[in-house]
Amino acid sequence: MAANLSPDRLQTLLEIATEAASAGGAVLKKYWGKLDPGKQIESKGRLGDLVTVADKEAEVAVLDVLRRHVPDHAILAEESGASGIDGSDFLWAIDPLDGTTNYAHQYPFSATSVGLLVDGVPTLGAIYDPFHDELFRAAKGLGATRNRQSMQVSGCDRLADSLLVTGFAYDRREVLDTNYAEFCHLTHCTQGVRRAGAASLDLAYVACGRLDGYWERGLSPWDIAAGIVLVEEAGGLVTSYDKSPLDVKTGRLLVTNGKIHNELSEKLLSIEPLPQFAPIQS
Ligand code: IPD
Ligand code: CA
Ligand code: CA
Repeated sequence: MAANLSPDRLQTLLEIATEAASAGGAVLKKYWGKLDPGKQIESKGRLGDLVTVADKEAEVAVLDVLRRHVPDHAILAEESGASGIDGSDFLWAIDPLDGTTNYAHQYPFSATSVGLLVDGVPTLGAIYDPFHDELFRAAKGLGATRNRQSMQVSGCDRLADSLLVTGFAYDRREVLDTNYAEFCHLTHCTQGVRRAGAASLDLAYVACGRLDGYWERGLSPWDIAAGIVLVEEAGGLVTSYDKSPLDVKTGRLLVTNGKIHNELSEKLLSIEPLPQFAPIQS
């Protein structure tokens, strides 16, 4: 049980997460700029939803580390799905390459994200961005760090003064809930909204105070498990849009420094969706 994990055990598991995220990041560096688009970048089906040889090999590298250190734990990894011991209280949620679209276009904003849920609760995580050599880590009760220095969320306390980030799920051409209306509305009433393209780093950037808030729908546990712990341990808040406790499986999250949480929640709940755009054939 999470409550029974000693600080020493948490620290040991955090070192394992770090080793795994670093191993994934090394693979991302290895293939950077070297992918053959015809052979090593494939579509997963939807327009813009790509997978590369780097995603797959980075996942193998992460799983190797976890299988060596914690063979009795369960794993949920983006490319290979569930493995390990079904029913374990410990579930590792892995995104070997978060920001695949960026990566495939050689836009250097991607990371390997390794999170651990204990009894369903995000408990620790490591996110490594090999392009900026930044390692973000946190564990419940042990604080959050960027390159091993303590980090905190920003002090911004008005939405009008904030810089936000968001993202758009790959199903955006199939649903009315596209997030396009929210993007327009919040661009209008803040200092700006970024669409950076890697959810794990969006969370890490809120945690280290570069951004004041983040919202997105349609995410998966591997996108957010590690980053949630970073934000919470850095003093921020992570909930659903309506401020109810986050269900990692719904992937609809509101993340802030805590100070603009009410204001951003109210705005998000008041925005009506835009009419659906005509579907685009991929
Ligand atoms: C995606 C990125 C992106 C977010 C998408 C995610 P991927 O992950 O995190 O920022 O908007 O919803 O699916 O496909 O690059 O691992
Ligand atoms: Ca992802
Ligand atoms: Ca991914």
